[in-house]
Amino acid sequence: MNKLTTCMLVIITCLAITATSFNSFGTSNLFSKIMNEPERTTLDDANCTLQSIDEANALVVYPLLQRLVRTDFFKIFKVDLQGECPFWVMQKVCTGQGSCGVCECDDDDIPVSWKQTKVTPVNTFLGMQSKNKWTDKDVDCWTKVPDSHSMTYVNLLLNPETRTGYSGEEASRIWRAIYEENCFKSGKLDDMCLEERVFYRLLSGIHASITMKIATYYHLKNGTNATTAGYDAFEPNFQMYHYALEKFPDRVKNLYFIYTFTLRALQKAGTFFENYDYATGNKTEDVYTQKLVKKLLRDHSSHLCDNVFDEKLLFQSPDKVALLDQMKSHFRNISSIMDCVACEKCKMWAKIEILGLATALKIVLADENELPGILGGIQRNEVIALINSFKQHAQSISDLQVFRDLRWKQEISPYISYLVTGVMALVIGRLLWHLLRDQLNK
Ligand SMILES: *[C@@H]1O[C@H](CO)[C@@H](O)[C@H](O)[C@H]1NC(C)=O
Ligand SMILES: *[C@@H]1O[C@H](CO)[C@@H](O)[C@H](O)[C@H]1NC(C)=O
Ligand SMILES: *[C@@H]1O[C@H](CO)[C@@H](O)[C@H](O)[C@H]1NC(C)=O
Ligand SMILES: *[C@@H]1O[C@H](CO)[C@@H](O)[C@H](O)[C@H]1NC(C)=O
Ligand SMILES: *[C@@H]1O[C@H](CO)[C@@H](O)[C@H](O)[C@H]1NC(C)=O
Repeated sequence: MNKLTTCMLVIITCLAITATSFNSFGTSNLFSKIMNEPERTTLDDANCTLQSIDEANALVVYPLLQRLVRTDFFKIFKVDLQGECPFWVMQKVCTGQGSCGVCECDDDDIPVSWKQTKVTPVNTFLGMQSKNKWTDKDVDCWTKVPDSHSMTYVNLLLNPETRTGYSGEEASRIWRAIYEENCFKSGKLDDMCLEERVFYRLLSGIHASITMKIATYYHLKNGTNATTAGYDAFEPNFQMYHYALEKFPDRVKNLYFIYTFTLRALQKAGTFFENYDYATGNKTEDVYTQKLVKKLLRDHSSHLCDNVFDEKLLFQSPDKVALLDQMKSHFRNISSIMDCVACEKCKMWAKIEILGLATALKIVLADENELPGILGGIQRNEVIALINSFKQHAQSISDLQVFRDLRWKQEISPYISYLVTGVMALVIGRLLWHLLRDQLNK
């Protein structure tokens, strides 16, 4: 019987190992090594492997951003949701409460100092006020200037970006307008010059990030209140992920691309963001916010390659000015299209993404001697949009893992059950054989 015990022990150990590797973290790494081609590739126009981005994001960036967007400073965003759609007559799909309405701020949430100043004060960054004043006309050259009278404060924590039911023709029309009317007309990605390609990939990155949010936060779990539901009240929709993203590795890559681009903006203006006055009137909170920003800027680099994005390669050609102007004008048009989004919550998040990207573009595309002037003109809302859009991209990248794990389980589960069945058969067979032998020997 001793042999049998040993054998059983071996089998049980095997089973245990199989069971643990089937679960949680171990698989994701194993999975990415075996099956996930894109993870090992680098981004075409940036110089990092996707794997290093995944790692930096999971270990440093996303956890810090999650804490950062919960601070008083970053949770309040000022937005104009009343703007008229300049391009077509729009039907309001839904407003007010419910999955697509936006719940505005309680007055108490808004820092007192923010309410008092009519015009958002230009941030005074050490030694930056002087020359190179960024004029009003230029400040918003990347986005449409919003109507300050219809701006309201929104508490972003109360309005998580989840599926709202806004889809179909209305939503496709927006994306069509963005891509068709506003992308450079040269067509195929291969024919575009580097600048056009970067621009296209950034838009596609926003699209992928928003699609990821919808797919990951798709079904409201039974028994949860839709008005107050946070991200954890939702369940993913694998089909949507498969048909909208998994089948198009380029889109997923573009998500990584906008992530590195935004990160580059933060790196490039590192000193500015470290010294920014995150004032809400609560000293403890403000110090904490600043500490988190510093930590974010310093800690991520040990996990990432040095050059996440090299903007020096851009705008080398003699028609730099014309190209840049063209790009700005396209981008302004895109920011106007956001007023045509009929679902309030989608519109709000789209505006954050667009303003965040505009801010990143402003910083990344500025050359060294323009940069101080540009940073001197960056407004509070732009800083908030940049960090919040970065958090959205970081969350999308982190959520990719949810689907990769699902895919893994789907692919591997038949084999697991074969294995388990096989092992069980072996155990029972051996047991029977021993019993039979004992019987015969008697
Ligand atoms: C990417 O980085 C490596 C080393 O970090 C460098 O040798 C290579 O030239 C870079 N490539 C580009 C396109 O920047
Ligand atoms: C959801 O919960 C309600 C009761 O709370 C129950 O009647 C219903 O069957 C549940 N639906 C599903 C799909 O589980
Ligand atoms: C959901 O929460 C809101 C706000 O707390 C409340 O007014 C509403 O009645 C709740 N709805 C349901 C179905 O419980
Ligand atoms: C200031 O912020 C801290 C946390 O950051 C909080 O505990 C405290 O209650 C806040 N003080 C006021 C007056 O809101
Ligand atoms: C912006 O949109 C308007 C209205 O559709 C259009 O006339 C104009 O050509 C667009 N500009 C660019 C740069 O696409």
